[in-house]
Amino acid sequence: MSTSSNHSDPTRHFPPDFLWGAATASYQIEGATTAEGRGPSIWDTFSHTPGRVMNGDNGDIACDHYHHMDEDLDLLANLGVHAYRFSVAWPRVIPDGTGAVNQSGLDFYRRLVDGLRQRDIEPTLTLYHWDLPQSLEDRGGWVARETAEAYAVYVEAVAQALGDGVERWITLNEPWCSSWLGYGSGHHAPGHHDIGMAAAANHHLLLAHGLAAPILRDTIRGAKVGITLNLSDHRPGSDDELDLAAARRADGNLNRLFLEPIFHGHYPEDMLEHYSNVSPGFSVVRDGDLDLISSPLDFLGVNYYSPATVVDESRATQARMAGYIVATGDQFPDLRLRGLETPGRDRTSMDWEIQAAGLTALLVRIRDEYTGLPIYITENGAAFNDYVDPNGRVLDFNRVAYLREHISAMHDAIDTGVNVQGYFVWSLLDNFEWAFGYSQRFGIVWVDFPTGARLPKESFRWYRDAIASNTVQYARSPGSH
Ligand code: FCB
Repeated sequence: MSTSSNHSDPTRHFPPDFLWGAATASYQIEGATTAEGRGPSIWDTFSHTPGRVMNGDNGDIACDHYHHMDEDLDLLANLGVHAYRFSVAWPRVIPDGTGAVNQSGLDFYRRLVDGLRQRDIEPTLTLYHWDLPQSLEDRGGWVARETAEAYAVYVEAVAQALGDGVERWITLNEPWCSSWLGYGSGHHAPGHHDIGMAAAANHHLLLAHGLAAPILRDTIRGAKVGITLNLSDHRPGSDDELDLAAARRADGNLNRLFLEPIFHGHYPEDMLEHYSNVSPGFSVVRDGDLDLISSPLDFLGVNYYSPATVVDESRATQARMAGYIVATGDQFPDLRLRGLETPGRDRTSMDWEIQAAGLTALLVRIRDEYTGLPIYITENGAAFNDYVDPNGRVLDFNRVAYLREHISAMHDAIDTGVNVQGYFVWSLLDNFEWAFGYSQRFGIVWVDFPTGARLPKESFRWYRDAIASNTVQYARSPGSH
């Protein structure tokens, strides 16, 4: 079947074996944070610290998925997805981070994997989506090399327990967020504000990935192993050299610090230079680490939400004169950037600019500069100010538009030969959106948090139809790409 499209026929056909999915993460949906031997994670500690999470929200109950598993599995079956991406909470499996394995924790995920298989849905398992056991943080967290070693032991336990039911494994979700937001800006758990710690965490997370990949392959025959990165398309606000350099710094920090070690076996020179004065920073890198980090993978997971336009901090006035709105500060002062907003451009309730063409550009760049491996979009979606209307419906047409545009932008990349093999919408359920608590709804299913009731939104129906027909209808507006 052709994947091509033209201006007169807006129907975008996807390849016959294209994998459609939905994604969630343990701390954001499970609740039951003290059930059956689960230990505390850094997100329990962080969210229970006043001032860290909006409205004082925490994940104690979240969507109570722990007790609604069958209902959520049925929602996935009704949606018609081929795959479900979920994460395993390390503190359920090894509550202290190292030491004894908690069988009840593994049993919970066994039930989930079996329930998916019974419904003909492929489990896609993320081993780390940010809920580090607190006791490991107490021993240095990701700044300490021992955390990467502990992670390898945890991975082996999960692989042995679930390897016969799970083929597709994701070592880490968005290590940029774990390191730079967790240890650099302090917006995420564990909440440190130290660039040197963030850089060391960046390396130890990648090392953890590098240690885990061969363990997964050795333990599970036919395992498909990948990593999920949050990547973006950074544009300079002008072609002034200072702005070009600012965009390159932003790209270096978010994209190249991860893509280059994984696919080229080294850290980018300009970033090593940029972080040469921080401690411990990249001085923690040891001989042989980059060989592990760059060992072959089976796929790359890409999370994409929004592009970014930046200028050098010295050029804020010029950017204003050019018609931009200039953000007041950057979360990483060392990068010396200012983010720009184009007035009138659509934004989500996270205030993230909506620009689907950024996804096409990113995918083409990954293919051209980094890898021809299969790519899965492991997250894409949007938060909006949804509400249940008087007829008991959530008519989230803005989310439908977002999904339609981004899925079409992905289709554009496939048309140019980028090897995208699947797409996971973020998220199946409204959930605990980290530092934003429950104030941001990303689900295609509404969750009434006081009662735990689920209500599929209009976007759920739209996505179900897209999956069933393996098409989306989208006419490219002239000049939009
Ligand atoms: C990503 C996270 C995911 C979710 C979305 C909105 O950075 O991986 O858990 O919070 O953003």
